[in-house]
Amino acid sequence: MDIKKVAVIGGGTMGNGITHVFAMNGIPVNLIETKQEFADRAMATIDKNLERMVQKEKITAEQKVTTLDSIQVFLDVAEGVKDVDLVVEAVPENLDIKKAVWSAVDAAAPDHTIFASNTSSISITKLAALTGRPEKFIGMHFFNPVPVMKLAEIVRGLETSDETYDVVEATSKVLAKVPVPVNDMPGFVSNRVLMPMINEAIFAVYEGVATPEHVDEVMKLGMAHPMGPLRLADFIGLDVCLDILNVLYDGFKDPKYRPCPLLIKMVDAGKLGNKTGAGFYSY
Ligand code: 3HC
Repeated sequence: MDIKKVAVIGGGTMGNGITHVFAMNGIPVNLIETKQEFADRAMATIDKNLERMVQKEKITAEQKVTTLDSIQVFLDVAEGVKDVDLVVEAVPENLDIKKAVWSAVDAAAPDHTIFASNTSSISITKLAALTGRPEKFIGMHFFNPVPVMKLAEIVRGLETSDETYDVVEATSKVLAKVPVPVNDMPGFVSNRVLMPMINEAIFAVYEGVATPEHVDEVMKLGMAHPMGPLRLADFIGLDVCLDILNVLYDGFKDPKYRPCPLLIKMVDAGKLGNKTGAGFYSY
């Protein structure tokens, strides 16, 4: 089955990036948001990021117009999913919100439609069980900034069928992403490896081993990371990092995943990184 049209639910950081890459690669998108102002903000971000690509001569001005024209905004889930082959959900990492969204999608989408969640921390098997089609449910985990990062971590839930996997793998390639298959376990592969590194970097600051700047300098210059782990934590959001560490800690019952007290304190203080203007750095 070819994916001819997709619905993306949620136009936040991940959702607008996902919309951008589908539309730019010739797959029309129904972008579903809860309020017009959120949809307008998402479209403005997509416009800005496409313009950046025009300026860098990665796409033409005409491609930018065609891309924007192939995105249609919906404020109603049932309307937005009724004629699509694939739904990609990128709503906040809150099980209650996801439950409400998936039950509305399940009721309104055509029978053949594949369901994908961009969740970074909630079990794909658990989300699949909220729908009547767990064999058609899969994780499609993109990375921020979505138009730039090459990886699509494709997460198979307990009941995901081979056919669903094959369609989503082929679709990822249409988006110029490199699909990597993983099984559904807490943190998948990406966050199971990344978050303990970020947490350890925070412990190094907490224990006075080095300043955030110096920790980041070590990892950038010594290990060729494009951003140090603390700058990256700010970029991802300290609240998101804490949530994912808690998922790993609860999921494996292993103290090696315990979040650093300094991370908890910063989240309590509302210092969440780039999005609040302050984290390990000021923005
Ligand atoms: N949209 C489109 N293009 C963008 C962009 C965006 N939002 N942001 C940056 N770019 C492009 C720029 O145009 C530039 O293109 P060029 O190479 O053709 O010139 C390129 O990306 C690099 O951008 P900049 O020169 O402005 O900045 P940097 O060189 O500092 O790179 C970065 C920025 C790409 C963010 C780089 O620092 C990086 O790769 N950082 C690591 C990001 C990372 O690890 N992301 C994963 C986070 S984990 C996650 O998302 C999973 C979740 O579950 C937690």
